[in-house]
Amino acid sequence: MLDLAGDVAGRRILDAGCGSGPLFAALRDRGAIVTGIDKSAGMLELARRRLGDGADTAQWTMGGQTAVMSFWHRPLHAMTDAFTAADFRIAVISEPPPAPGARELFPDILADKPAFLCFIFFVLQAG
Ligand SMILES: C[S@@+](CC[C@H](N)C(=O)[O-])C[C@H]1O[C@@H](n2cnc3c(N)ncnc32)[C@H](O)[C@@H]1O
Repeated sequence: MLDLAGDVAGRRILDAGCGSGPLFAALRDRGAIVTGIDKSAGMLELARRRLGDGADTAQWTMGGQTAVMSFWHRPLHAMTDAFTAADFRIAVISEPPPAPGARELFPDILADKPAFLCFIFFVLQAG
């Protein structure tokens, strides 16, 4: 993701689903002005611990309840159609391998998988 983002110095970035903030931290270290949001209050607390009081995070508490996450499968063409309709051009499609060390941390999940869990990244250019 960081490679795809390129030179972020001075850019304003929304880290949507920032979790505990590892990407937020890396982007901020590279000079970006980052806002992080996450629907998990627990994740935001971890992000604040990682990032310090200066971190600009938005809080979604979901009424103080533990949120059940739902996932919806979208075919690839649904995404590309939406990009095209919004006048974006796809510059890069990336399905990265697990991060170094991830196989040791999550052996049950990643043991025999050559690819990452389910993420695909797009770099879009307007107009
Ligand atoms: C796979 S984690 C990634 C966390 C972080 N970006 C990282 O790279 O470590 C996805 C995060 O998105 C958050 N999330 C999922 N759906 C969300 C939503 N609709 N609105 C806000 N945050 C959401 C989850 O709480 C979780 O922290």
